[in-house]
Amino acid sequence: MAAELLSPAESLRADAMAPVLRRDFLASRLAQQYFAASLLGVPAAKLRASYACPECGAGPDIAHGRPGYVLDGGPAPLMLSASRSSGWVLFAAVVHPEPGLQVGVDLENAAGTEFAGFDDVALTERERRHLNTVDAGSRAHERARLWARKEAWLKMTGEGLRVAPDSLDVLERPGLWDLELPDSADGRDLPAGLLAALAVTSR
Ligand SMILES: CC(C)(COP(=O)(O)OP(=O)(O)OC[C@H]1O[C@@H](n2cnc3c(N)ncnc32)[C@H](O)[C@@H]1OP(=O)(O)O)[C@@H](O)C(=O)NCCC(=O)NCCS
Repeated sequence: MAAELLSPAESLRADAMAPVLRRDFLASRLAQQYFAASLLGVPAAKLRASYACPECGAGPDIAHGRPGYVLDGGPAPLMLSASRSSGWVLFAAVVHPEPGLQVGVDLENAAGTEFAGFDDVALTERERRHLNTVDAGSRAHERARLWARKEAWLKMTGEGLRVAPDSLDVLERPGLWDLELPDSADGRDLPAGLLAALAVTSR
């Protein structure tokens, strides 16, 4: 089961989490490994997680940062990104990516960006001005849309929130798309207010 598929570094990370977080983490890591295996056409047990963190390094001993896998002793030919929100997980992947191709994906619940001070720390001045032009009823959705675009972009670059989000303008940025989510998946309705963004670059 989980213990056999996940790497020791992933298990160690899970062990440090509170039960609810651990459950979501383990479920998404297992789903991710089965997803990656199905794209690569190999058994999930042949993959070993190998993450890359700009501060801690990369390899099978790392279980945070940009996701990846080792297959048959080398990097699996898969560019992958993942995001969790509201009990759901979204993956984006490219099999046999051309050199330099990177992807980033983010799933966001609009309720998560509804707090005082968010705009000041998260949005550029131009984005704040833009938000003020949006009618009040759509503002929460628009704010979360911008945030999903920022997180997708920062996962694509690998920097994450080491970059100040109020320095990254995502209003019109080539390589960034808002994703249209279905109303339901796997026989279950998606929560209202859920939205997603995808970033892709080829350097
Ligand atoms: C990644 C980030 C931008 C958004 O994360 P979030 O909204 O909290 O959570 P999401 O579910 O949308 O995304 C989490 C996923 O992003 C991915 N991710 C994390 N850091 C990443 C990075 N630097 N580059 C690319 N992808 C990354 C992982 O797949 C992670 O999944 P996991 O929880 O299974 O490890 C933000 O959390 C972040 O910047 N984290 C880095 C924090 C950090 O560096 N801590 C110090 C470590 S030394």
